Amino acid sequence: MKMHNRIGLLGIAAVFMTFSAVAATKYTGEGGVELDVPYVPTPQELVDRMLKLGGVTANDIHYDLGSGDGRIVVTAARDMKVKKGVGVDLDPVRIAEANENAKKAGVTDRVTFHRGDLFAMDFKEATVMTMYLLPEVNLKLRPKILDEMKPGTRIVSHAFTMGDWQPDKHEVVDSRNIYLWIVPAKVAGSWTWQVGNETYKADLKQQYQMASGTLTLPNGKQVPIESPVLSGENITFAATVPGATAPLRFSGKVAGSSIDGAMDVSGKSAKVTAKKTS
Ligand SMILES: C[S@@+](CC[C@H](N)C(=O)[O-])C[C@H]1O[C@@H](n2cnc3c(N)ncnc32)[C@H](O)[C@@H]1O
Repeated sequence: MKMHNRIGLLGIAAVFMTFSAVAATKYTGEGGVELDVPYVPTPQELVDRMLKLGGVTANDIHYDLGSGDGRIVVTAARDMKVKKGVGVDLDPVRIAEANENAKKAGVTDRVTFHRGDLFAMDFKEATVMTMYLLPEVNLKLRPKILDEMKPGTRIVSHAFTMGDWQPDKHEVVDSRNIYLWIVPAKVAGSWTWQVGNETYKADLKQQYQMASGTLTLPNGKQVPIESPVLSGENITFAATVPGATAPLRFSGKVAGSSIDGAMDVSGKSAKVTAKKTS
């Protein structure tokens, strides 16, 4: 009997608690290879909820890191019709099962399983990525996710968090946690833009998707940025301009060192392009 068939529902939680406590340990997979995470499959109902939480659609390129028997990749291809699905697993037994499952589901034209180490995987092209790994493994992946993945990419994790990177959404399904993060654009620094002859400057700080900072108005006065929201490549914030009847509102899309957007100030709306100056 396969290892995962022997693990009952309660056993899974206990097994993971034990594994979490000794995360530096390697586990031997069925194919005789050393693994960073043991094989425990995500129940199908939870797979469905993870894909729903990730908002997976036919426009997506989906990756599952440590893809096991391929159930998450196969479900996304079969039910959400993702245009491309990729799984990676170190255990050849899992890869063989995943390929068999892809065949049964009739999705081999859009799905690939690679036998390899998830830490060596280039997953930049993903628009949505799922994982059921371990806290320490998530933490090791975190810099690569934040630095290499496109802003707006959704990351869905079964059971485990990303340290102090707070999830954008969290759901509990049958006492199991699932988390969603949206990779934020990099906005820390100084940004300037013009409205007519007037120059505005925003000095932004950032921790993950949390932005804060100050806005320098054309008259040189500095005011705090209010209600900042950074979601993927989209940023919005407001500011109180002394004497104005309504708050200034800025919204835009970040693309590298430019933000294209609009600003409403004193009842007027203007298209703006903010440039990163430092
Ligand atoms: C907890 S299981 C999750 C399986 C599947 N994603 C699911 O949710 O049903 C973790 C998987 O990661 C694989 N794995 C462990 N360490 C790995 C590594 N360094 N690189 C690639 N796969 C790994 C294991 O073989 C196992 O299939």
